Amino acid sequence: MKILVTGGAGFIGSHVIRRFVNLYPNYQIFNLDKLTYAGNLENIKDIENVSNYTFLKGDISDLEFIRSIFKTYKFDAVIHLAAESHVDRSITDPLAFVTTNMVGTAVLLQVFKETWKDNFNGKLFYHVSTDEVYGSLGDTGYFLETTPYDPKSPYSSSKAGSDHLVRAWGHTYKMPIKISNCSNNYGANQFPEKLIPLFIHNIVQQKPLPVYGKGINVRDWLWVEDHAAAIDAIFHKGTLGETYNIGGDNEWKNIDLIHLLCELMDEKLKREKGNSKNLITYVTDRAGHDMRYAIDASKLKNELGWTPSVTFEEGLSNTIDWYLNNQEWLESVTSGNYKEYYNKQYTKR
Ligand code: NAD
Ligand code: TYD
Repeated sequence: MKILVTGGAGFIGSHVIRRFVNLYPNYQIFNLDKLTYAGNLENIKDIENVSNYTFLKGDISDLEFIRSIFKTYKFDAVIHLAAESHVDRSITDPLAFVTTNMVGTAVLLQVFKETWKDNFNGKLFYHVSTDEVYGSLGDTGYFLETTPYDPKSPYSSSKAGSDHLVRAWGHTYKMPIKISNCSNNYGANQFPEKLIPLFIHNIVQQKPLPVYGKGINVRDWLWVEDHAAAIDAIFHKGTLGETYNIGGDNEWKNIDLIHLLCELMDEKLKREKGNSKNLITYVTDRAGHDMRYAIDASKLKNELGWTPSVTFEEGLSNTIDWYLNNQEWLESVTSGNYKEYYNKQYTKR
């Protein structure tokens, strides 16, 4: 089987690629990535010479390029992760999100259809998405697979649009599709603009920790390797046409998570207790900031037997160790125009 993984040089994609290349030597794994600021070949350096792995540089929204690679390689399956993925960037540059997340997904679907026409036997288009498509919860309740879509940010609405496109191609052209919607991931290789790696980086450098609003927004956190394992289970055992929610059953109010992170960092860096907490700075809230995400992943657990493999405390501790031991990676991924972004100014509340 030839599998095209898109976005394999990014955070989650790098873990999915490594897992598939190592666990399934009979598959040919192709990694298609544009290498935006978020994509970095350092993330998958260890597998670059493995015989069942090939890297292809290109843009998913470039129709002729996507046609040319499908003509050459005739991919049997797609695992589609490539996306613009950061909510804050979607607020300042929404059109990039529409182009990659919606147009790019439509291009992949269309070329997959053109390639296999009506003969989809043994083929699969698997779309990786986010729980943010469901919108924002109040104090109670969980997102189910049947929860109506209600995206609020340019990021989540562009992902919701891509989910709708995938379902439409499945329904109209009888294409074999699967979709999963996952909660917030954390772990190695995450670009240091998202909460956890940004704050680890700032604590090391003794820079302020910009907490948006009152810090009371809630996210459900899942270790990235557990997400990769869930994608593997859904890819191999999930039912065609179905959607699966993936989550860690692990809700944290931002400020509580930040306190835990500060305590662990003080210990690991052998700094005085309370040192990192002093860096906490409340800043103006994110525009349209979703209050709470919480996932009910019981369909995935009951039908496919998946469960998270680590507790949050274990996962977070390992994650911090990884960043502390990989300062060279940090230098490398932040050497581009990141510095300009990283030095952006916040307004104190
Ligand atoms: P990421 O930003 O770390 O990586 C995205 C990758 O896609 C990068 O390697 C980038 O170079 C590539 N890419 C971007 N635009 C491209 C284009 N036009 N053509 C080809 N490649 C392009 O993102 P991530 O956090 O690894 O997320 C991966 C997927 O999982 C996304 O679809 C995202 O919506 C979804 N997701 C992420 C999370 C999370 O917590 N990070 C949670 C649930 C779902
Ligand atoms: P983030 O990691 O950007 O993921 P998402 O917005 O997709 O959930 O943010 C996680 C939470 O942390 C979210 O409620 C916003 C908040 N946050 C901050 O308070 N400060 C920051 O600097 C960042 C990046 C996020």
